Amino acid sequence: MEPTRAAWVAADAYLADTLVGHDGALEAALEAQRAAGMPEIEVAPVAGKLLDLLVRASGARRVLEIGTLGGYSTIWLARAVGEDGHVVTVEAEAGNAAVARASIDAAGVGERVEIRIGRAVDVLPTLVGGFDLVFIDADKESNTIYLDWAARLGRSGTLVVLDNIGREGEIVRDDADDPKVVGTRDALRMLGEDPRFDATALQTVGVKGWDGIAIALVV
Ligand code: DHB
Ligand code: MG
Repeated sequence: MEPTRAAWVAADAYLADTLVGHDGALEAALEAQRAAGMPEIEVAPVAGKLLDLLVRASGARRVLEIGTLGGYSTIWLARAVGEDGHVVTVEAEAGNAAVARASIDAAGVGERVEIRIGRAVDVLPTLVGGFDLVFIDADKESNTIYLDWAARLGRSGTLVVLDNIGREGEIVRDDADDPKVVGTRDALRMLGEDPRFDATALQTVGVKGWDGIAIALVV
């Protein structure tokens, strides 16, 4: 196979079909998001399943998500924390939060999910800490602020997952002027240098293009 975008997408779809399968509530959440005119920038199905496995493998019960969008990843996280678990998810746009609320409730995990509406820089200082896992998937320009809050609201052993660290390979550009690339590079440098984190990152290709995720442990 030639490593074309079409081949990545086909292979990713095959993996999702084989390992994730169909899921009515998640597919309905994506349909609601599309119908509301929101961007289709939620995590890929295989990445949603990765979030689920990271939550369950780490035994996380209190999860913080920064960037709710339509609630697709929120549903994955809320299912994974189990009946006694709790997800706090922060969303800047009230319209997005309303769509997410309906989809999360329809998925049957509404009682586990608290949506905090507001800019994350304003909401994060109001949260009580002790989160076991933090998923950062919001405006890339503020990634270092979110990483700082993840460390402050976490504890030794908290897992931090940062989406979109590949950005179609643009992360290698030290002369980047795209603020999303600059924010991503700043976040990666912080994960490498800040003694509060031990981190790695994996590039991904698939239905969401060429991108990646970083995974860090708060030490
Ligand atoms: C963008 C944001 C995301 O969280 C994502 O997964 C893909 C793209 C963006 O803002 O471009
Ligand atoms: Mg993302």
